[in-house]
Amino acid sequence: MVTLTDQPSPELLRPGVKKPVQETLLTPRFYTTDFDKIANMVLSSHEEEILAALEELRADYNRNHFIRDESFEQSWDHFDEKTRSIFIDFLERSCTSEFSGFLLFKELSRRLRDRSPILAEAFHLLARDEARHAGFINKSMVDFGLCLDLKYLTQKRTYTFFPPEWVIYTVYLSEKIGYWRYILVYRHLEKHPEHNIYPLFKYFESWCQDENRHGDFFKALLRSQKSLWKTWQSRLWSRFFLLTVFVTHSLTTLERSDFYEMIGLDAHQYNRDVIRNTNETSLRAFPEVLDTNHPQFFTRLEACAAANEHLKAIATNGNPKVIQFFQKIPWIINIVWHMALIFFTKPVDAEALRAEVH
Ligand SMILES: [Fe+2]
Ligand SMILES: [Fe+2]
Repeated sequence: MVTLTDQPSPELLRPGVKKPVQETLLTPRFYTTDFDKIANMVLSSHEEEILAALEELRADYNRNHFIRDESFEQSWDHFDEKTRSIFIDFLERSCTSEFSGFLLFKELSRRLRDRSPILAEAFHLLARDEARHAGFINKSMVDFGLCLDLKYLTQKRTYTFFPPEWVIYTVYLSEKIGYWRYILVYRHLEKHPEHNIYPLFKYFESWCQDENRHGDFFKALLRSQKSLWKTWQSRLWSRFFLLTVFVTHSLTTLERSDFYEMIGLDAHQYNRDVIRNTNETSLRAFPEVLDTNHPQFFTRLEACAAANEHLKAIATNGNPKVIQFFQKIPWIINIVWHMALIFFTKPVDAEALRAEVH
């Protein structure tokens, strides 16, 4: 066990309890929305699909999955300081984003209880899963001598307002990208057990099926609202949210290439695989998706990540803020430029493909 001093360090809220990382554009966010608008959504066109997704959530396949087995009962003192801090960073980000899902779903369930019982139950079950996920990761943080105070996080974080349409697009995407992130790590470690440095990863296979089911529920919700896929605006929003999720994923994955290296993965390849698969999965829900086969697609995303590294370096170069501001401008323009090029590249028309299949 790591020894903790009696005096909390600047990193700690109190001994053993880690201060949440400073919020940036890239840290997992906490959301709130227009609950009345969701309560008034008409679901009848896809009621069957929504009820089927609800039935899957009720089945609670992972009821007994999140129980720590004996493989956790050992010391992790052999992790050197660098490995330990990379690992804690990974655990903290994962725990925060699971917990952010829990808070949003719990609030949705509470607010819809009397007005939309089907949605309220579904959100209640989604919150159940995310609470399990966050709690399980937080126990792993304890293995490294730290944990997150989730109550503190609930009160101190700022909440970002998203209209229901944005919530549906982004939660769908974050569930599906979560699925691909977990399953690709799992499959890689299954093939290369020598890189499996910590037992948490072996839980990922069933775990990611939770995220997949959550995504399926949001897909049913999305398809029940014609305004989310049948209009030209919905086509632009779909591309926009895919793009922002993929840029964020590239930035956070590539700046943490140390973590992926530690488990024997190439961060660039992993980033590409996650994005390609998530984009393809989104074909089933969104009216349009991005063309990941375009020869410039990934080089542009990676250029955004490289520009982000320059921005980070400027932020810590010690120059006065005003100088830093001007130093940052070309890199911000660079990111916006690459994002615009991806956004305006001819997309893949999912509705046309759907029409062909039927
Ligand atoms: Fe989760
Ligand atoms: Fe989830």
